[in-house]
Amino acid sequence: MKLSDRVAKATSILAVTKQMGVYPYFRPIAKSWGSEVEIGGKRLIMIGSNDYLGLSHEPEVMEASAKAVTAWGTGPGGSRFLSGNMTIHLELEERLAAFVGKKKAVLHVTGFSTNLGALGTLLASTDMALFDRESHASIIEGVRVTKARMATFAHNDVASAGRKIASHLKTEGAGVFLVTEGIFSMSGDIAPMDKLAALKDAHPGISIYLDDAHGLGVLGQGGRGSANHFGVTSKVDYIMGTFSKAFASIGGFLASDDGDVIEYVRHQSRTQIFSAALPAGNTAAVLASLSIVERDPGRIERLRKIIARMRQGYREIGLAVTESVSPIIPIHIGSDEKAFLFSQELMEEGIFALPAIYPAVPRGGALIRTAFMSTHTPAQLDRVLEVLDKMARKHRIRVADMAEDQARAKADGEEAYQAQTAKQRQSFL
Ligand SMILES: Cc1ncc(COP(=O)(O)O)c(C=O)c1O
Repeated sequence: MKLSDRVAKATSILAVTKQMGVYPYFRPIAKSWGSEVEIGGKRLIMIGSNDYLGLSHEPEVMEASAKAVTAWGTGPGGSRFLSGNMTIHLELEERLAAFVGKKKAVLHVTGFSTNLGALGTLLASTDMALFDRESHASIIEGVRVTKARMATFAHNDVASAGRKIASHLKTEGAGVFLVTEGIFSMSGDIAPMDKLAALKDAHPGISIYLDDAHGLGVLGQGGRGSANHFGVTSKVDYIMGTFSKAFASIGGFLASDDGDVIEYVRHQSRTQIFSAALPAGNTAAVLASLSIVERDPGRIERLRKIIARMRQGYREIGLAVTESVSPIIPIHIGSDEKAFLFSQELMEEGIFALPAIYPAVPRGGALIRTAFMSTHTPAQLDRVLEVLDKMARKHRIRVADMAEDQARAKADGEEAYQAQTAKQRQSFL
């Protein structure tokens, strides 16, 4: 398709939502207090952020970041390979490796570029990258830049993964990289890391690569992530993480027990070598966040209590909610249009939460992605539940409403079908 046609197609969809006043994206936030933000002069409760521990507004983290800017300046001045390597980068790598239970780690400037650079370096053309069908775009792009064979397995389906591994390993010299997220970014589903890691018992040669962007700081002992949560850290070969979620900054890292591979990635990852270093202010914010997480488990405990409370609250409203300890709780809506409208009405009620539509979620599976932070106050959470209760009834998204509507649609369809066939029979006679 020509560029002008692609532009016209994309902008016509945007224009419709803008015209309807329900366009939800790129909203300019004028001020942020963490769990609340100001948009268009209105203060909103934020339930769409990945700042799960609320550390980005923690004075200790902000002060550490400001101090580092004073010491090193605002920009790194180059790639780490050349002129941008700072002592705090090395300190952070050591601290992160120890935190996730691995020997070595290497930083990248974002989480996206970590997946892009690390997968792009680790995979050879004879390998198969086998990843969960709901994997993040950065995983897919990381695999795409290699010549490795790409294969997917059904979402969180260990048997499906096992079958694909078995068939690929029949090829001589073939390697398999099993890639998954710890907590999936849109659905909030938790990967069964224990069962995925157990695939190594039957296939010891495979490597497991865990993108724990949303699991770090949240799951596991002291927030040590999804592998720790399931007690399988030693079986997971590569743990990738981001600082843009619980660690109050931006940046990412890859950790492994194989120091040689980490050095290889450090020297070969294109997004490491050909991209500037993580700025000092961001690096120091992660170091300060790590110190708080290690010192104060109460913050994670508070988040866990909030997650349990909100999941129970959603259930009492009648929304479809799974048994989970994930801070991401999707509200299932269905059509894109309804999700846009729902998000807009939430804003009008003083709540910020955005829709996820295809391709971020399967077609027809639009949802409102809500996510909770350990700094949400009881009053904010009460207000969220009050508004959701009212809106769930109005938009008929409670489990019972949806079942009733589906049954009615089916009955209406059947009636129309009977009428149609009766008409056809008559015309035939
Ligand atoms: C699962 C997952 N991996 C990687 C990334 C990329 O991380 P970053 O935003 O830090 O670049 C994200 C970000 O949304 C993510 O959800």
